[in-house]
Amino acid sequence: MQIKTLATQAFLDQKPGTSGLRKKVKIFQQPDYLENFVQSIFDTLTLPQNGVLTLGGDGRFYNRTAIQTIIQMAAANGFAKVIVGQGGILSTPAASHIIRQYQTFGGIILSASHNPAGPDEDFGIKYNTANGGPAPEKITEAIFENSKVLQAYKIADVPEIDLDGLGVTTIDGFTVEVINPVADYADLMESMFDFAAIKSLLASGFSLKFDAMHAVTGPYAKDILENRLGASAASLMNCEVSENFGGGHPDPNLTYAHDLVDIVYGKQAPDFGAASDGDGDRNMILGKSFFVTPSDSLAIIAANAHLIPAYKSGISGVARSMPTSGAVDRVAEKMGIDCYETPTGWKFFGNLMDAGKVTLCGEESFGTGSNHVREKDGLWAVLCWLNIVAAKKQSVEAIVKAHWGEYGRNVYSRHDYETIPTADANSVIMHIRDQFETLVGQRLGSYEVKTCDDFSYTDPVDGSISQQQGIRILFTDGSRIVFRLSGTGTEGATIRIYLEAYEPNVENHHLDAQEALQEMIQIALQISDLKARTGREKPTVIT
Ligand code: G1P
Ligand code: ZN
Repeated sequence: MQIKTLATQAFLDQKPGTSGLRKKVKIFQQPDYLENFVQSIFDTLTLPQNGVLTLGGDGRFYNRTAIQTIIQMAAANGFAKVIVGQGGILSTPAASHIIRQYQTFGGIILSASHNPAGPDEDFGIKYNTANGGPAPEKITEAIFENSKVLQAYKIADVPEIDLDGLGVTTIDGFTVEVINPVADYADLMESMFDFAAIKSLLASGFSLKFDAMHAVTGPYAKDILENRLGASAASLMNCEVSENFGGGHPDPNLTYAHDLVDIVYGKQAPDFGAASDGDGDRNMILGKSFFVTPSDSLAIIAANAHLIPAYKSGISGVARSMPTSGAVDRVAEKMGIDCYETPTGWKFFGNLMDAGKVTLCGEESFGTGSNHVREKDGLWAVLCWLNIVAAKKQSVEAIVKAHWGEYGRNVYSRHDYETIPTADANSVIMHIRDQFETLVGQRLGSYEVKTCDDFSYTDPVDGSISQQQGIRILFTDGSRIVFRLSGTGTEGATIRIYLEAYEPNVENHHLDAQEALQEMIQIALQISDLKARTGREKPTVIT
């Protein structure tokens, strides 16, 4: 095996965002673009002799090409072995599990999550450390710094690996093992949940519809839901993976998962509906004509965790990202366990889980998970709900309403304004910051501003500080508005407005969230001057 060191020109735009480096495929296809970033990852790490690397992606366009290149570079940089999912596939939670199960040095995951795929769409790459979680900020920042001064990368002439057959290929002591991408993960799920109870629920006529959105969870859903739990073939939709995800936008929410939403809100709706995203870490949970917000889902899973075999002896604590509603905080308080508020992005949960401080965590952005891996996990969330429904023998809606009855309802919604010119988006954020002092104490409609700040987080485990993680306008009654710029977009800027109002009265629990939050939406628009500064009349996506 010949190893070459090739001179290269540094790129200055390889700054990882909320979840790795995401760019248009065309940008990744530039000569040396991928190679430079991969070398910057390897240069940042202290690579062991004979280390093992986990490698896989969500199967989107450019996945296979990138995998061959990364294998060649791993060989050249001294790895002894690469474990890769068959077809180059590993869902993000499955990749996290493989890193942990086989104790590999780390992993490279190729995905742009829920962003559309195809030659003109998005691609992404991120590094996960030995705990199975996304690299923390100090590593991603070092990768960026290295990428800006990179002068050369190393690559070996490993011949193209057959990714479609299972098995081991060895070249001069360097090994590539192609593994079944589903089996280990499905076994893990089977060990955590009461499969027998879910199986009898499904056999008893409880109907289910799972939408893989033509993305990576297709094969996982077939194995787990159909083969192992006995769901009918008709209960799975869009489970054939395609390189452009069927031309869709595989983001499991009410806007993009419309195929499923139409069915669940239509005649002959199933009892349960769920969808997962491009790389399998997000989830949406629906009952018959009923939507469960991700923030409520986290709270309800926490409150009912004892019904799930994996958590029957209790959970140590919970964590949520700052913009996620405080519903889970109320559950934690009642259970007498700690609740942590972290910045947006899964990487902030890793330390808390490694330190045993939290078992469950989640984000309002359709991400829920636990310490079984170090990524959010779409199918895991679906199984949590099926397990809870099987144990409680109640409908999804009844479970949610009973929860609100006990804890009150944190009415919640997020409004996204996508692809805004960066300068306009920055001007909105600056404009809000400029009002921090004048807003405090002001009465806006029926709300009074208590405090405004830029959220800053000190990691309780390693003491690292992350600043400017979103603007919070907190009202005296506990309601709040949060403004943030997205860190995952690939075109212009996205402004996210997060709205939350606490409603203790059961008589108001039937209200639609947009209706209940009407006044607060107007206040958010007024404070931000968003319409004038961006020319946008309404949000692109409401979740
Ligand atoms: C978005 C979500 C965030 C999530 C991330 C990766 O990031 O808001 O919660 O962790 O995608 O799935 P954002 O674009 O807001 O930076
Ligand atoms: Zn994702």
